[in-house]
Amino acid sequence: MCGIFGYVGTKNNASDLVLEGLRILEYRGYDSWGIAQLVDGVISVTKKAGRIPDGDISFKATTIALGHTRWATHGEVTDQNAHPHLDCTQKLAIIHNGIIENYDKIKVNLKKAGHKFLSETDTEVAIHLIEKNIKAGNPFREAVRSAFNEFAGLNAIIVMDAASKTFVAAKTGSPLVVGRGKGKENLIASDAPALINYTDTFHFVEDGELLEITQDSIRAFDQKTGQEKNLHWQKVDWKFASNDKGKYPHFMLKEIHEQPTIIETIVNQSIPSIEDLAETILKSYGTYLVACGTAAYAALAGTYLFSKIARRHVNYAVGSEFGYQLDFLKKGSLVIALSQSGETIDVIDAIKKAKEKGALVYALVNVLGSTLYRMADYKILLMAGAEKAVASTKAFTAKLAYLILLSYILSSQKEKGKRVLQKALSSTNRLLQNEISNIKQIAQKLVNKKHIYVIGRGLAYPIALEAALKIKEVSYIHAEGMASGELKHGPIALVEKGTPCIAFLPDDETHGANLAGAMEMSARGADIIGISFQPHEIFDYFIRVDDAREATIIPETVAAQLLAYYLAIEKGFDPDKPRNLAKSVVVK
Ligand code: G6P
Repeated sequence: MCGIFGYVGTKNNASDLVLEGLRILEYRGYDSWGIAQLVDGVISVTKKAGRIPDGDISFKATTIALGHTRWATHGEVTDQNAHPHLDCTQKLAIIHNGIIENYDKIKVNLKKAGHKFLSETDTEVAIHLIEKNIKAGNPFREAVRSAFNEFAGLNAIIVMDAASKTFVAAKTGSPLVVGRGKGKENLIASDAPALINYTDTFHFVEDGELLEITQDSIRAFDQKTGQEKNLHWQKVDWKFASNDKGKYPHFMLKEIHEQPTIIETIVNQSIPSIEDLAETILKSYGTYLVACGTAAYAALAGTYLFSKIARRHVNYAVGSEFGYQLDFLKKGSLVIALSQSGETIDVIDAIKKAKEKGALVYALVNVLGSTLYRMADYKILLMAGAEKAVASTKAFTAKLAYLILLSYILSSQKEKGKRVLQKALSSTNRLLQNEISNIKQIAQKLVNKKHIYVIGRGLAYPIALEAALKIKEVSYIHAEGMASGELKHGPIALVEKGTPCIAFLPDDETHGANLAGAMEMSARGADIIGISFQPHEIFDYFIRVDDAREATIIPETVAAQLLAYYLAIEKGFDPDKPRNLAKSVVVK
């Protein structure tokens, strides 16, 4: 949601560099884009609704530029509402993430004072307020600071000043990271991977911090008091980061194929941190798993794994609901937050509240330096590498792998846990080698369907939910995941001849009962897509997933991801950038 990239330095193709940065950030999800550049002392803006076009855009030479990919909140998706926005003098430009909740009151006063507004955004209010503060005699940095202090809500802004060739950034929410380039250049972005070509040394901007960035220096100040602060520079290891698709046509497919390597990495590298988490769980008064979207289905799978393997009860809530279940939290409670991005606002909000109650926070997170990573008391990095496709794939199976290992470690069976994951690895490899053409053909058969039902029991239930979510996200076919036992409590009324039903049928204690559910669907005319270790006569289509005990959920998920991917391809959609979705949901 909303990518940000700013460059100030000595290179005179700053706008091209910003465009390249925005392209890297496209995975965050956006509906319009724009770049402000300084040309002959005034700021000119190129901005458009829709996607950034392929190929070069001709920009004038400049050494300072600021860009933004917008995911609309206030005001429709139009060229005018795209960022950056300028003040009346065209000497200041702003880009913004978040929502200025009291923008309307400020706007009324600014309008009375004669400021002209060209968009419907809350953002534009900010730049006119800063302009007013400068006109009142405040230096640029102070003008931004005092304006930002007036805003209600969670926001991040970057303002460019033509006169001093300076960026000032401030934030109370949304991620921002600054990097020192080589020589006389500095950069700012919403995500560290966008800066990969310039630096490996970053300062992750804290909430309540104001930054002043020129080609020569980066300085930090306290947003409230204006006092100068120290910056905390961190080196980032880029081993797992990559900004290109390699031999694959889409990031989603690349990321699906990376899953075996990731599982292998987890089995071989991350045991000490998981052992540490297991010990913390054993000492805690109740453990809560919190996450959103796909990560929430991993958390739900965690409740089954903990029960089945570790014989422990854990609580589970999606981030947005967690706030209503906090009454049980106390000092000594443990909250494990799962998140690919580490920026999902509902998860961040949940852990803020948990910390206020004295709970300990553990993060299972993929992005180093993310807000969740920094806020958590303890953290485990997923080691899944940068995930670029909006729909999460490899971060999900990485979370499953950690939760499986954790459950086995909790039951003092670490080696068995590793063996089970090795089995998942073989099963996933076999699936990727042998089933793709089969899955493509199934996608061709399903492409015109309006609804798909997905059933599972026990551990396969969260996987049924995740499979349905993946199909919805990238192919826009309505898909509904459910516990197969719930079928006869309503959903079966919708089944008619030819209704597709994906049934997860692993070789475990759920097999018989789950098969019964599939039979009930089949008897009413449904076409059954069986995802199982062996074929069955009621299957109209069959995807083989070899057994890997509890870790069968990993190859089962991969099968569903591939089906979703090929459904999107059959329908002609771009699976990497589904409409209306954002990779990091940083606004409520
Ligand atoms: C967004 C993404 C989903 C993701 C969810 C949680 O909705 O589109 O793919 O599962 O956020 O994201 P997180 O980064 O916290 O795992």
